[in-house]
Amino acid sequence: MARALDPKLREQLAARLQYYRDMGIYDFYRREGGAALGAAEGISDEMARKRESSRGSVAGAEVFASSSAAVGVLEQAQAPRDVQAELQAISEDIGECTRCRLCKGRNNIVFGTGNMHADLMFVGEGPGADEDEQGLPFVGRAGQLLNNMIAAMGLRREDVYIANVVKCRPPSNRTPERDECETCMPFLMRQIAAIRPKAIVALGATAAKNLLAINAPMAELRGRWYDFRVNVTSQGRPDTSSFTVKLAVTYHPAFLLRDPRQKKETWKDLQMVMKFLGLKKSGS
Ligand code: URA
Repeated sequence: MARALDPKLREQLAARLQYYRDMGIYDFYRREGGAALGAAEGISDEMARKRESSRGSVAGAEVFASSSAAVGVLEQAQAPRDVQAELQAISEDIGECTRCRLCKGRNNIVFGTGNMHADLMFVGEGPGADEDEQGLPFVGRAGQLLNNMIAAMGLRREDVYIANVVKCRPPSNRTPERDECETCMPFLMRQIAAIRPKAIVALGATAAKNLLAINAPMAELRGRWYDFRVNVTSQGRPDTSSFTVKLAVTYHPAFLLRDPRQKKETWKDLQMVMKFLGLKKSGS
């Protein structure tokens, strides 16, 4: 748990961090001092420690001394990536989001779940009633089928990362509208950039169209690989790098529940992904 910090000091620290961010300085670690920075960012001591210990040698450090001893010394570091911290920052940026109308009906924001170091990421459309209730993606009937698909690939749900195009449940499970998807997509892109999977499977037309910006029928979209370019941006900084992920499109599990005949085609798509990732069929 984060230790309680004097509210005034907390406010000062938050303002100082914002000041550095405004100057384009984003990455900090504590050379000494306790929970001050973690508390100011609203993250736990444990997470602050993990983040600190995961940082290796510091290159090109810029040092800032504060007038307040409690603030300690902050350094900007070219450090190894801390995926957990990156995901937490995305979650904090989403906050109690009211950026689009979907916020009105939601009970929980469904951020995404799974292995943050996964080679494989599944992207669905948006939460349904069960997901909205539990705050987790793909936990309803479609989720059960997705779990079976993952198991058939010889993986466990905990091995992959699962997220959606929109993070709040559309009313009556309607398809999210274009502006809703556009509002939420930057967060998904940041999640992909943080996790850096080797492959992404877009589940259904909404995920495929929003990721690929292609408007075509599912039958045309599936059955092949796409090279999906991810630009790595950091909180408004210009792109510093980009990388490419293999992306495949397949049918959404909810669609497969309605039309099980397409399971055969879906299995072909998943086998294509398995081959690329060097996975063996479950049981073989
Ligand atoms: N359908 C989706 O697209 N996502 C979920 O999380 C659940 C159902």
